Amino acid sequence: MRLTRYFLPVLKETPAEAQIVSHRLMLRAGMIRQSSAGIYSWLPLGFKVLRRIEQIVHEEQQKAGHIPMLMPTIQSADLWRESGRYDAYGPEMLRIRDRHDRDMLFGPTNEELITDIFRTAVSSYRELPKTLYHVQWKFRDEIRPRFGVMRGREFLMKDGYSFDLDRDSAIHAFNRHVVSYLRTFERLGLKAVPMRADAGPIGGDYSYEFLVLAETGESEVFLDRSVADLALGDRTVDFDDTAALQGLVDQWTAPYARTDETHDAALFDAVPEDRKVTARGIEVGHIFYFGTKYSAPMNAVVTNAEGVQVPVEMGSYGIGVSRLVGALIEANHDDKGIIWPESVAPFGVGIVNLKQGDAAADAACEDLYAGLAKAGVETLYDDRDERAGAKFATMDLIGCPWRITVGPRGLAKGVVELTSRRTGESVELSPEDAISRVAEIFAAV
Ligand SMILES: Nc1ncnc2c1ncn2[C@@H]1O[C@H](COP(=O)(O)OP(=O)(O)O)[C@@H](O)[C@H]1O
Ligand SMILES: [Mg+2]
Repeated sequence: MRLTRYFLPVLKETPAEAQIVSHRLMLRAGMIRQSSAGIYSWLPLGFKVLRRIEQIVHEEQQKAGHIPMLMPTIQSADLWRESGRYDAYGPEMLRIRDRHDRDMLFGPTNEELITDIFRTAVSSYRELPKTLYHVQWKFRDEIRPRFGVMRGREFLMKDGYSFDLDRDSAIHAFNRHVVSYLRTFERLGLKAVPMRADAGPIGGDYSYEFLVLAETGESEVFLDRSVADLALGDRTVDFDDTAALQGLVDQWTAPYARTDETHDAALFDAVPEDRKVTARGIEVGHIFYFGTKYSAPMNAVVTNAEGVQVPVEMGSYGIGVSRLVGALIEANHDDKGIIWPESVAPFGVGIVNLKQGDAAADAACEDLYAGLAKAGVETLYDDRDERAGAKFATMDLIGCPWRITVGPRGLAKGVVELTSRRTGESVELSPEDAISRVAEIFAAV
């Protein structure tokens, strides 16, 4: 992409309404624009990051054997009356009446809808287990939408739903989610800790939240430092191996890690003093096993091996896809702007032409731009007729992890400069070597 042809409405001023750094930087970098309280347009740069996160979420869900689909945003109230949640949900639900006076709603979550789909299609235990998921916009009429996309009213969520014959199989589905979520957050370059949670409005007795530690997080968290040091790394995971998955989940859930909602001071006191951490966290995922909470009232039953009809065992599993954009910035920024991890960067590389209009500099930039495209690296070429300082400031603000700076002086020596956004370190390389260095970095992501 050439910057002169792109749509990147960066702001010079720091927007007064934004209280936390990710919200400020998303507005300043031209990633989002508020359309009304808690509702945002995703401008091209923000949209790219959102899509990259969504893609990683899809890949990791499918590796775990979960099946993608898409349900609508608008749902009929009738299904919610069956589960009893139409009245229970309260003012956070946006209720809509259509032209035929039918009660509709903008879905805040999809347990009822997926249970309805399941019960009309599946009747035998032979078709189990199944986990279906989608990535779709949700609406919750939050009383205090704030912090930009972190607590919006309209937000993008990956929500998945598991259907199993019995409790053991349902817990295996739960464990698949724990591990696939750990992998997802690691690929995003985030350290997310599973913490025992309250079952919340969805109910049930088996629930974990995934929290990214950050000063601006809304939850207070208490943990044993050892859990934050765990990493899946490159180990291969067989999602069908029940015992292996249980082993991983036990490893991650054994150390103390809770939010203020479930905190138990006595248990925390037993953690060795030097490993006790009290911090704040951003909830980026939340998983529940809730048994027959929806299948029983909605009559989602299957025949078991003995020919008896039993309500199906269910769980639901959410990842805050749009919230993750904010969480990633909270975890990756400095006073100049955003520092994207390579895995989600909207552009992997930014080319800065120090002397636009100089024949040699322009030609070298064009060659780099074409070479990077050929190597499969998405590149933003700042081809504006602007001062070098302004170009650097834009690149730093929008957070491309790598920058290639091209100017007549370097070209006279046959070199360009490759700079890491994260460390600020630069190396001089021939343009060809700069392309292959960057291609190597992104091939490894
Ligand atoms: N208002 C919101 N804005 C952005 N993301 C949200 C919002 N509410 C929930 N999420 C994301 O969706 C995930 C699943 O939601 P859930 O746990 O059902 O919501 P809550 O914790 O608010 O009851 C949360 O872990 C969070 O990452
Ligand atoms: Mg939650």
